[in-house]
Amino acid sequence: MSAEHKVALTFEGADRIDIACREDEDIITAALRQGHLLLSDCREGSCSTCRGFLVDGDYDQLLPHSPHALTDAEEEDGLILACRLRPSSDLEIDFDYPIDRVGRYEDGTRNGQIVETEQLCDTVARIIVRTNAAQDPFGWDPGQYLQITMPVVAATRAYSMANAPNGSRELEFLIRLLPQGRFSGHLAAGLAKGEPVRLRGPYGSFTFRGHPKPVFVAGGTGLAPVLAVLRSLVGTAPTTEATLVFGVTNEADLFCGDELAALSRDLPNLDVVTTVERPSAGWSGAAGRVTDHLGLIDPTRSYYLCGPPGMVSTAEELLFGHGVPRDRIHIERFLDTGDEQP
Ligand SMILES: Cc1cc2nc3c(=O)[nH]c(=O)nc-3n(C[C@H](O)[C@H](O)[C@H](O)COP(=O)(O)OP(=O)(O)OC[C@H]3O[C@@H](n4cnc5c(N)ncnc54)[C@H](O)[C@@H]3O)c2cc1C
Ligand code: FES
Repeated sequence: MSAEHKVALTFEGADRIDIACREDEDIITAALRQGHLLLSDCREGSCSTCRGFLVDGDYDQLLPHSPHALTDAEEEDGLILACRLRPSSDLEIDFDYPIDRVGRYEDGTRNGQIVETEQLCDTVARIIVRTNAAQDPFGWDPGQYLQITMPVVAATRAYSMANAPNGSRELEFLIRLLPQGRFSGHLAAGLAKGEPVRLRGPYGSFTFRGHPKPVFVAGGTGLAPVLAVLRSLVGTAPTTEATLVFGVTNEADLFCGDELAALSRDLPNLDVVTTVERPSAGWSGAAGRVTDHLGLIDPTRSYYLCGPPGMVSTAEELLFGHGVPRDRIHIERFLDTGDEQP
């Protein structure tokens, strides 16, 4: 059994949570094991959501991570990534957010049922999950996701809500159909309607920060959390000057055209570009990758990138290359969420 250290987590230098962390686990995992859900997204050192400041204590070396999430110079200044840090002594780490953003892990579980399924195009389906009436409906910030367990296929996967929260028990998800996929394959086979599911969350920090003139860049079902954000703007800030660049591979992968048209009406300053990477000869719209359609990259605008990891990394590199600072780039990578058993 590996040695265990005491870790004091402070929030904005004020409130404090004490946990124990083994030398063979990272801070996010240890906190989760003890019921505290610290802000984190990728848990693999690429998104920087879990950054904190090491006030006291030692570690040998951070686990591999992207320089975009934390540079060597920042590490020398004391910044760390909690998902990449394993302690070698007692530690104190301060996080730059208030303690009320720390979730209680066990609070966020609901049971529900897949009540509707609809195939939207060759590669994407919409599902509606209704949580049981005996439980409070979920609350979430548009852009967040849930972990959904479907017991019949023994799979737990992350999916982002496409609807904005309105107190209802219905949750909408857009799911890319991978015929061999454990979760989405069951859906592709037309077998998911009526299935009971367990839901845990909400998680994630891919939420709109209220910046003026945001640019949303979505690849495939990466549109889901962006739709949730745009739908919430209809009620909260309909005059927002926003751009959405939405990309798919082939025309047969296009979906949610009606929803995007409705948003263009409800958000009069929303500019939508839908691009097809490999269009047929008859396609008259935008062609190419989303990164071909970002226009003049403006470092004063904020960019929200969501979709397959490759697309997100390409867009991120391009934005960095044009001087967009990290705190203006918000990312959700639809990483493969694996084969975890429920
Ligand atoms: C934070 C977060 C939010 C997410 N939100 C969404 C969402 O809203 N909509 C959505 O469709 N997905 C989303 N995903 C991805 C989703 O969680 C699953 O990983 C994905 O649906 C595959 O699950 P599966 O059981 O169908 O396939 P699996 O059985 O897990 O995989 C089957 C095969 O497909 C491969 N594979 C898995 N994922 C992908 C992929 N994305 N592209 C290509 N090959 C893949 C696997 O490596 C494997 O070979 C999200 C992921 C994360 C981390
Ligand atoms: S959660 Fe740690 S870098 Fe993404």
